[in-house]
Amino acid sequence: MAEIERIGISIEKTLLDKFDGLIEKQGYKNRSEAVRDLIRDRINQDKISDSKAETIAVVFLVYDHHSTKLSDNLIGLQHSHLVETISSMHIHLDKHDCLELIAVKGKKGKIEKLANKMISLKGVKGGKVNYIGI
Ligand code: NI
Repeated sequence: MAEIERIGISIEKTLLDKFDGLIEKQGYKNRSEAVRDLIRDRINQDKISDSKAETIAVVFLVYDHHSTKLSDNLIGLQHSHLVETISSMHIHLDKHDCLELIAVKGKKGKIEKLANKMISLKGVKGGKVNYIGI
């Protein structure tokens, strides 16, 4: 188990009250875990700000499956980029639209280029990519 250090910090009461309200809504049982998660998130944000950082990412795409060749283009992009596709999931949302979740692993900059190409394809109605540093 990792060594634990106790720290004390000074904070304005109004700011602390807002923080306590927020973490209660999120379901945290105590401040310590909420502060640890904030620190982890900040470290992750710093790590993934480097385009050479190794990351795992999920690309979310909503698209109209009637769009000509879109599925082929999405698959072609995954094959032609130097990132490892870990898994993908396809969900039929309604008669027209599909949600595709594509989990990939690789350098942040390469994943970003791949995701931007996917998101900008004709027929893609919305897209996002989320990263976590590894
Ligand atoms: Ni579908």
